[in-house]
Amino acid sequence: MMKKNPQQRIEELRKLINEHDYRYYVLAEPIISDYEYDQLVNELIQLEKENPHLITPDSPTQRVGSDLTNVFNPVVHKIPMLSLSNTYSEEEMYEFDRRVKEGLPRGEKVEYVCELKIDGVSVSLRYKNGILVTAATRGDGTTGEEITNNVKTIRSVPLSLRKPSSLKLNLDDIEVRGEIYMEIEAFKKINEERELNGEKTFANPRNLTAGTIKLLEPQLVAKRPLKIFVYYLYSETDELSTHFENLKILSEIGFRVNPNYRLCKNIEEVMDFCNEWEEKRDKLPYEIDGVVVKVNSLKQQRILGNIAKSPRWAVAYKFKAKQAKTRLKKIIWQVGRTGTLTPVAELEPVFLAGSTISRATLHNIDEIRRKDIRENDIVVIEKGGDVIPKVVEVDLSQRPKDSQVVKLPSKCPVCNSNLFRPENEVAIYCENNLCPAQVKGRIEHFASRGAMDITGLGEALINLFVDRGFLKDYSDIYQLKEHREELIKIERLGEKSVDNLLAAIEKSKEKPFDRVLFAIGIRYVGAGVAKKLADHFKSIDALINASEEEIESIHEIGPSISKSVKRFFSDKNNLKLIEKLKKAGLKFKIDEIRITSDKLKGKSFVLTGTLSSMSREEAKEKIISLGGHVLSAVSKNTDYVVVGDNPGSKFDKAKKLGITILTEEDFLKMIE
Ligand code: IVH
Repeated sequence: MMKKNPQQRIEELRKLINEHDYRYYVLAEPIISDYEYDQLVNELIQLEKENPHLITPDSPTQRVGSDLTNVFNPVVHKIPMLSLSNTYSEEEMYEFDRRVKEGLPRGEKVEYVCELKIDGVSVSLRYKNGILVTAATRGDGTTGEEITNNVKTIRSVPLSLRKPSSLKLNLDDIEVRGEIYMEIEAFKKINEERELNGEKTFANPRNLTAGTIKLLEPQLVAKRPLKIFVYYLYSETDELSTHFENLKILSEIGFRVNPNYRLCKNIEEVMDFCNEWEEKRDKLPYEIDGVVVKVNSLKQQRILGNIAKSPRWAVAYKFKAKQAKTRLKKIIWQVGRTGTLTPVAELEPVFLAGSTISRATLHNIDEIRRKDIRENDIVVIEKGGDVIPKVVEVDLSQRPKDSQVVKLPSKCPVCNSNLFRPENEVAIYCENNLCPAQVKGRIEHFASRGAMDITGLGEALINLFVDRGFLKDYSDIYQLKEHREELIKIERLGEKSVDNLLAAIEKSKEKPFDRVLFAIGIRYVGAGVAKKLADHFKSIDALINASEEEIESIHEIGPSISKSVKRFFSDKNNLKLIEKLKKAGLKFKIDEIRITSDKLKGKSFVLTGTLSSMSREEAKEKIISLGGHVLSAVSKNTDYVVVGDNPGSKFDKAKKLGITILTEEDFLKMIE
């Protein structure tokens, strides 16, 4: 036989491998053995090795072969990636149908396409001339992050499109969107392995998928069995007409489309679909959390348009929280950072809504009494979305004869100190401020995302550092750098992770005063209250010296907060902590905004809604730095109202008063 030239053979092999990939990963109908398949791949790898100039980015070898790491460059979505508004009942679905019809010319017929709502991570795929060029995350809907190298490892994502001769479209420049997910069995297996290796497990398949898709190294992503279902097609060059047809086209050009979709003539048929799948959801090998209902006609979709961040032409019908029955083995009392004892139910592990549940919160003793929950009861637990599972009720028919009513503990279960129960409160507290559970809890709160946001300093590390004496309170965090050498020696830590942690600690010093005030953990001072106190008093010294009356003069701040603030600062230990943090360089006053220009001098602004490119605080600072000022309410003296997504009543008022409205774009131009 004449030997083919390498280029021809390479092309032939790629075609064959793509075809077998498609049959295996998309259609799930392989026609050759794994051995035969591997031989084709090995031949291609060999030929490409000998002829590296012939390697192309869409070659099947480039899925895992890439030793590039991801940089997560920003990708601006051509069309924003919207999210869906949720409905939870039949009434709300009828309401949606009514709104759709109201938004369309009178008497127009509406058809809907129902699809399963896959509980994964959405992705946008851009194909130019039939080749995958970019894959991006949703991000904030306007700008996502590039994850092309990671997505290429997913075998059901075609690197190049199929071109059936029957297809009359040219599809030279298309965007496809879909959901990357992991099947439940694969998720369980990975978690089991991680548990064995002492690694942190993931709460559910979606979290595992989200974590995987953002890994730096594609080789690691390739080891995790991610899959995709696509549900959206946009073409720059073709006129498309219905969503139903688009789903068919997507299948034809090689994508994996979830087969369980249905064209419905009216909202009754839509409800049938929703009810059917709410029943059947457990039979699927992957998690779904509802049904997505979309207006079929793309023309009608265009007429309906969007409100804020969701389309008017689609809605998510969310399933009710899933329930399961299991045995409550034991009730334990957890001690939080403020000393509160919270009862937690230890359960016989049970799989529910994507994860294995072995604990549920019981809130407080009143709740336990109200539901008459006892140890060894068979209980119904429920988990909706991301919320912590809770015990809904007890199956009294299965209650053991010798069961006992739950008693309050008499001593702190962690440090054995006395407990107290303030009047008018359901909570009980451990009175020992130095109780290890409280110490750990306070440090955890201090380092948490909403507070000082020290990446890497989570529960496990804090426990370790407290147990080994590196941390006695949160102010010691800023001394950790003096123990670098000792930390590196700790098993599992290593030089790189210690240095990353120390860098994150240094970075946290930039956090503004209100975050610091929240982080130090004054009872009843949440993030919002901390902001109000910081804005009003401007420095910790002013707050320490303020009277209760002065604190209460702030809008929405009452006596329990003011008393708690005074109590906190009357404790010498707390004042010492603050001194230590001050020395470390944390911010204990608000940053004065420097006025850099008089571009907006004398102009007053009101902000409403969410801006996508900056926080409201940043917008405010920018206006002030340009000489303008920001007011909280609209009046006829307001010059401009800047309107973001989901604006409040200020927007309506501004329109009524005829005040100049600025979109985010107008505003950005103005402050350029
Ligand atoms: S359509 C505007 N279809 O649900 C259209 N989304 O909140 C939005 N999702 O971000 C997307 N399955 O991540 C659509 N069949 C499906 C879906 C689906 C899951 C996710 C997607 C989206 C979120 C909507």
